[in-house]
Amino acid sequence: MNIIVIGPPGAGKGTQAKILEAEYGLKQLSTGDMLRAEIAAGSDLGKKAKALMDAGELVPDDVVIGMIANRIAQPDCAKGVIFDGFPRTVEQAKALDKMLGEKGKPIKVVIEFAVNEEELVNRLRTRIQQTIDAGQQVRGDDNEETLRNRLKVFREQTAPIIPYYKGTGLLKTVDGMLPIDHVTQAIKALLK
Ligand code: AP5
Repeated sequence: MNIIVIGPPGAGKGTQAKILEAEYGLKQLSTGDMLRAEIAAGSDLGKKAKALMDAGELVPDDVVIGMIANRIAQPDCAKGVIFDGFPRTVEQAKALDKMLGEKGKPIKVVIEFAVNEEELVNRLRTRIQQTIDAGQQVRGDDNEETLRNRLKVFREQTAPIIPYYKGTGLLKTVDGMLPIDHVTQAIKALLK
């Protein structure tokens, strides 16, 4: 079973994808986490991605499509994948359709998180404070100015994948403003 979760930064994609991963035995693939791992490793790809990510801009399509193509070929993805933060453009969506179509394992459902942008700014403030309190390093793109750009980039470049998936009949929407466990229940109801 392959699932896509779509929503602006802070919508709760990662939170829910991790819960679903444990519950359904699927593999969560977050392109954001994969890119941050490249940065931490100091790879050429990571060096190129860092400036874009710190500015809240998207990494080029060919880079993330290549990363996902390699990753879904691994054995731990055989039972299915929760795509978290990918696709982020219509071009990425079309490439994913092609890859999964070739494997005969298409997307089962695309879950859109409907959220209020101002509330996302509050969530981010909480996440930054919790990270600082835990003595950990705050993400390079977790500051209010960059978040505003990430939200703009979502509206302009990622939101067009919503009508794309609506057209395929796969799109379902959940209220991402509900408490975490309520959002999980709403998603589970969709997966029944
Ligand atoms: P990425 O890492 O994907 O970040 P993002 O989409 O901006 O999302 P976040 O991780 O900030 O939020 P989330 O929706 O996962 O929310 P979370 O569960 O953490 O991407 C980072 C960058 O990488 C991009 O800007 C781009 O540069 C690059 N990139 C990545 N993928 C790419 C791609 N495909 N193409 C090109 N470039 C790409 O929750 C947020 C907070 O809210 C947490 O503190 C959580 O505890 C809390 N929370 C969650 N749910 C709730 C709830 N229901 N109620 C209250 N609090 C909640």
